[in-house]
Amino acid sequence: MTIKTLIAGAALALATTCALAQDKPVAVDRAAFDKLLADGYAKAPEDWRAKMVLDETQRVCTETRNRPANAQAAAIAEREGKDVKFPADGQFFGDIKAGLKVANTGTGSQFSDAPGTYVGGNCYACHQMDVKEVSYGTLGPSLTGYGKTRKDEASIRDTWKKIYNSQAVVPCSNMPRFGAKAILTEQQMKDVMAYLLSPDSPVNK
Ligand code: HEC
Repeated sequence: MTIKTLIAGAALALATTCALAQDKPVAVDRAAFDKLLADGYAKAPEDWRAKMVLDETQRVCTETRNRPANAQAAAIAEREGKDVKFPADGQFFGDIKAGLKVANTGTGSQFSDAPGTYVGGNCYACHQMDVKEVSYGTLGPSLTGYGKTRKDEASIRDTWKKIYNSQAVVPCSNMPRFGAKAILTEQQMKDVMAYLLSPDSPVNK
C-alpha cells in the first residue's frame, strides 16, 4: 500500500467516524472513559485530579448532552445561582487595561504550571470583543459594543452573575464558571467587567 492510499484510507475512516458521530452518538463505556481520563493525568497532583470528578451540574449536562429537561435546567440555574457573590464593596468596575489582560490571556490552571503562573479568563478564545483585535473565537456571541446598551444597575449585576457563574444564567453553558470555580479572582472579574462595559473601553468604541 502506498503512503497516498494509506492517507486516503485514514481520511475516509475519519470522515466516516465523524459522520457517524454526528448522526448517532456512539454509546461510551463510562468506566472505560473515566479510566482513560485518569490515566491521562496520572502525574497531576491529587487536588488537581479532583477536577476530573463531575459535579452535579456537569453530570446532568453530560448525561443530557447539554440539553437538560426544563426541570433539570431550572434546578441547575437555582443551584448555581445560590453561590454567586457580588463584590463586597459594591464596586463592579476595576481597571480596563488589566481587564484586557484577563480577556486575552489563556495561560494558567494547568497542573504543570510553574507556581505563580498568571491565570487568564481567555474570553477572546470564544468571544469577539475589541473590534480591532483580529484573533478571536466564535463559540460564544460577539461582545463588541456590549457596554453601549448595558449601563443600568440590573444589567451590570446580570453581567457580573454571568461571569461569576455562567450556568446560573444559561444551564449547561459552554462558558467556564469563573468565580464559582475560583478561576479568576474578584479583582480580575472587576477588571474584565470594566473592559467589557466601560464607555472608555475599546470594546465600546
Ligand atoms: C469556552 C468558551 C467561552 C469562554 C472562554 C468565555 N465565554 Fe462567555 N460565553 C460563551 C458562550 C457559549 C456564551 C453563550 C451561551 C451562554 O450565555 O452561556 C457566552 C456568553 C457570554 C455572555 C452573555 C452574552 C449575552 O448574550 O448577553 C457574556 C457577558 C460573556 N459570555 C462574557 C465572557 C467573559 C467576560 C469571558 C472571559 C472572562 C468569557 N465570556 C469567556 C463561551 C465562553
